[in-house]
Amino acid sequence: MFEEAQYFAPVATRGDGSIVVELAANHPGVADRVYRERRNAIAALALNHTAGEPVPEAAYTEQEHQVWALVTRELTAKHRRYAASEYLAGTERLGLPADRVPQLQEVGDLLEPLTRFRYLPAAGLVPLREFYGVLADGLFHSTQYIRHHSVPFYTPEPDVIHEVIGHANALASDRFARLYRLAGAAARRVETSEALEFISKVFWFTMEFGVLVEDGEDRAYGAGILSSYGEIEEFRGMRILPLDLAVMGTTKYDITRYQDVLFRAESFAHLEDVVGGFWATCDDESISRIVTGGARTKTAV
Ligand code: TRP
Ligand code: FE
Repeated sequence: MFEEAQYFAPVATRGDGSIVVELAANHPGVADRVYRERRNAIAALALNHTAGEPVPEAAYTEQEHQVWALVTRELTAKHRRYAASEYLAGTERLGLPADRVPQLQEVGDLLEPLTRFRYLPAAGLVPLREFYGVLADGLFHSTQYIRHHSVPFYTPEPDVIHEVIGHANALASDRFARLYRLAGAAARRVETSEALEFISKVFWFTMEFGVLVEDGEDRAYGAGILSSYGEIEEFRGMRILPLDLAVMGTTKYDITRYQDVLFRAESFAHLEDVVGGFWATCDDESISRIVTGGARTKTAV
């Protein structure tokens, strides 16, 4: 696992078998006892879940439903201005509730008839090969907890708002769902951890933080921009580079702050050609050729 993979609080088992989520000292919920108990209970649900069983229900508090409602209200207005049309069409198809946190089981029930995707609960960090690999089977590993109410506009810790508002709305689109599945198949095909890391970085700069042009304007289609009403206001001012596999696959990023380097597709079809085409065909050898060839022409970022 490479160090910038993801930011996740470690989950530990106490001597008595109970589950405890270790929040960092600067986590906004660290001193909030109620929130910490909720986090522990939700992590335990995921750890006790077996594949193929329905996703266990998380009993969210009134305050947690209010966070969802607030973020949904803020994001809905900003999506109209800043989101790519393929994503907006996905939100129309999926029809998420606006006033309460949906259960992951419910999200899968809404998605399955559209694109056959289902959601699985994740207690914390899922190994890269597993996370990406099961996308090929139409499965999406998702956190179930929600961000702390004191900082609703952005969280460095992927939460249910990011997983569902960011990713499930995209996964409701046939074109996005196809790209996610191709990424999964690619992750399964390669053997080296270098190639897997390359594929995951291309995923990061596209499905998580991608931007594309529509009517001459930059629009976000990446789930990480689309789930943060803080970051979505900033992305147009960031350095936006042309879509380039060699550069995306080798650029470092910092998960804990707004992204300062983004990559722009000229259209959704351009994204499908370049990135979909790459995931559909790549293997260890072709990736190592891109890395070596790219090193010569690569601009410093
Ligand atoms: N920053 C995102 C938000 O506030 C959530 C998030 C955390 C995220 N880690 C991520 C998104 C990694 C994409 C990739 O909604
Ligand atoms: Fe994500």
